[in-house]
Amino acid sequence: MLFVMKRKGRSGLITQIEPWIDDKELIELQRVIDSTFVVEHKLTQEFEDMTKELTGAKHAVALTNGTMALFASLVALGIKSDDEVIIPNITFVATANAVILAGAIPVLCEVKSDTITIDVDKAKKLITAKTKAIIPVHLYGQSADMDQVMSLAKEFDLKVLEDAAQGVGVSFNNKHTGTFGDIGILSYYGNKTITCGEGGIVLTNDDELAKKVYRLKNHGRDVKGTFIHEYIGFNFSFTEMQAAIGISQMKKLPAIIERKKEIHDLYERELGGIKGFHIAFLDKRSTPVFWFTSFISEDVDELIGYLKKYEIQSRRFFYPLHLQPCYADKKYIKNIDDDFSISEEIYNKGISLPSSYLMSTSEQNIVINKIKDFYEDRN
Ligand SMILES: Cc1ncc(COP(=O)(O)O)c(C=O)c1O
Repeated sequence: MLFVMKRKGRSGLITQIEPWIDDKELIELQRVIDSTFVVEHKLTQEFEDMTKELTGAKHAVALTNGTMALFASLVALGIKSDDEVIIPNITFVATANAVILAGAIPVLCEVKSDTITIDVDKAKKLITAKTKAIIPVHLYGQSADMDQVMSLAKEFDLKVLEDAAQGVGVSFNNKHTGTFGDIGILSYYGNKTITCGEGGIVLTNDDELAKKVYRLKNHGRDVKGTFIHEYIGFNFSFTEMQAAIGISQMKKLPAIIERKKEIHDLYERELGGIKGFHIAFLDKRSTPVFWFTSFISEDVDELIGYLKKYEIQSRRFFYPLHLQPCYADKKYIKNIDDDFSISEEIYNKGISLPSSYLMSTSEQNIVINKIKDFYEDRN
């Protein structure tokens, strides 16, 4: 029997983000229960095929989560101890920590003040004999400049691993993020555009890399059911329950993308004219998916506090990596003392507004009116 789940919500609270989960997911989960197959099997393959169709990648390998997808990609690329990997200074910490887990050294690179993605001209200056790869991160629903990244990689013979954890549905020059470089990853974590609860996918057009990633997540084997292990591998496998949720979410993706664009456009229309408050820049070559709608504000702290009083959740941008306490001893990370004034300014001014598919227009209008009130008192 299927239960039709109603959105519970917390009365009055307007959430910054929440997944759209209902009886549609239950229908797919029922297929797992009926099959009694809970470890990855046919539904996982179906979900991988859907991801291939969405992205155009030749291979899509599902793993436990996006962090492990990054780690497995680095190992598959042959990144090893003491190799240097250039990453942007504004990203979620998983980008850096996956490099550390692979035994290599993340080298922090400043981001561009407009798109908040890696500044490739600055990345060029960080290249040494030890540099083996670059990880562009497609942040907050828009793409890094993949024209620049790919030409730098070509010039210096670098591997390209695209962190498209936030890039589901996002393209650059009409090509899906995660499919430009040697390898790329998507995340299906609970707050992402679509979710499996936890989940990650490795995308690649390279047969050998796809095989290597599969072995790494499957105890070093090319297939299940054998106990002779040709390679050293681990267990980063997906489950059929994750796949079931993912299949349902993938069917919802077009509606989610459309709704998120409506949310973005309404915020822009209503709030774009406020002095000291403007929407984050969009690169025209990028077809974004507005995972979050984000603004640049002169008064982030006060605004977040003001909205909170009215039970409206918002969030700041990612804390720049060079300031993270976990890297303060400078043991695991390089270039931490560079000039990161752009990152700091972006962090100090960035705010992501409520952006859930489930937010109603009347809820969004409450957010808009409160922001207008806030600025009316100030401007
Ligand atoms: C840019 C970025 N990279 C990597 C990750 C890690 O993905 P996951 O949470 O699926 O491990 C995330 C997400 O949470 C992310 O935002």
